[in-house]
Amino acid sequence: MRILLVLLPLLAGVAAHKEPKTPQEIEVQRALQAAAYHCAPAVAEFTAARKRSWAQKVLAGRPALPGYEELFADGTYAEGISGTPNDEQTLMSCSPVHETRIQNNTCVLAPEVTEGPYYHTVGHPIRQNIAELQDGLLLLLDIGVIDVETCKPLPNVLVDIWSANATGHYAGHPFPSPDLANEKPQVGGKRSGLLSAFPRSLPQQTFLRGAWPTDANGVAQFTTIFPGYYTGRATHVHTKVFPTWTTHPNGTFTSDALAHVGQFFFDDEVNLRVDNMHPYTTNPIRDSYGRTRNWRDSLNIFEDSHGPEGKYNPVFKLDLLGGVISQGLVGYITMGVNASARYDNFWKG
Ligand SMILES: *[C@@H]1O[C@H](CO)[C@@H](O)[C@H](O)[C@H]1NC(C)=O
Ligand SMILES: *[C@@H]1O[C@H](CO)[C@@H](O)[C@H](O)[C@H]1NC(C)=O
Ligand SMILES: *[C@@H]1O[C@H](CO)[C@@H](O)[C@H](O)[C@H]1NC(C)=O
Ligand SMILES: *[C@@H]1O[C@H](CO)[C@@H](O)[C@H](O)[C@H]1NC(C)=O
Repeated sequence: MRILLVLLPLLAGVAAHKEPKTPQEIEVQRALQAAAYHCAPAVAEFTAARKRSWAQKVLAGRPALPGYEELFADGTYAEGISGTPNDEQTLMSCSPVHETRIQNNTCVLAPEVTEGPYYHTVGHPIRQNIAELQDGLLLLLDIGVIDVETCKPLPNVLVDIWSANATGHYAGHPFPSPDLANEKPQVGGKRSGLLSAFPRSLPQQTFLRGAWPTDANGVAQFTTIFPGYYTGRATHVHTKVFPTWTTHPNGTFTSDALAHVGQFFFDDEVNLRVDNMHPYTTNPIRDSYGRTRNWRDSLNIFEDSHGPEGKYNPVFKLDLLGGVISQGLVGYITMGVNASARYDNFWKG
């Protein structure tokens, strides 16, 4: 059972801006990134063990895709897992599956980039399958959390994720924020390409958002679909990590203890493949603005997600779930968070 903590009033009056700005904020971010980088060897091992486990469960010798319940069953990460992954099934990775040596491109997510304008303060359900009835490419996510102070996997922290659907809409965001209601696509500068008024949907919708606690091995797994794109932003999945939270009878949660805010991305080559699959081909901006490439991401979010020294990799390592991409993908990423830190959300978009 999850620990329920008394909810403190949410901090009010914290200035909302997109990046750490004060010397103290910048120092917090710098220290965190330096600490996370020191965990690279531990993260590499952590990820390799998870990939082996998946390979065994999903890829090695199983004729059909197992049910999700089985994938998420206890013991998915049982110790002492042996077996080698099928390298031919590896679509891409930061490092080879069996590689546990230190590599500079180990997938440690850089801490703290903007949460963007589509977060629901109350309304993210606690669940692993966030796909609902959204049409799109099956995407299973294997998200590891590591404590940068100990370089150990962090159990029982809530990993919260949200993304746009295959045609670029977030659930439950009918109205743009008032100051952006009349925004036209920006032609230059940091907001280049952004049109915040575009990806709107009905208020009661909840698709493609949800949170799940990390298990004893520091891993939270989700079933979702590959996100679609909207104006100005590279294809991405948002995340937050909460060390403590309160669950509500309706299945949602609230927390005032924020430990991490970030975004995950996909390799542009994979984005290109998905662009050509139905229903991604029906994106309303396909023939006008088109998909924003990672390197052109507005507000420098993709670039910032690599950290100030470019040492981090916010891009999922992806493996095929079946023989071909249309059978789905599994994506791995590891976040380094400071378990003892609590942030005001000064990265709020
Ligand atoms: C990895 O990064 C460290 C620290 O920046 C640097 O000293 C080292 O030369 C890098 N190694 C490789 C192989 O790039
Ligand atoms: C994405 O969500 C919007 C808003 O609910 C909906 O109109 C659209 O059909 C969805 N896209 C797909 C591919 O289902
Ligand atoms: C769920 O419960 C919380 C706490 O009572 C409430 O604030 C929120 O509006 C509810 N959400 C929905 C979708 O009913
Ligand atoms: C983690 O957070 C604690 C509490 O704020 C702080 O004292 C410590 O320096 C932080 N560690 C890193 C590596 O940022």
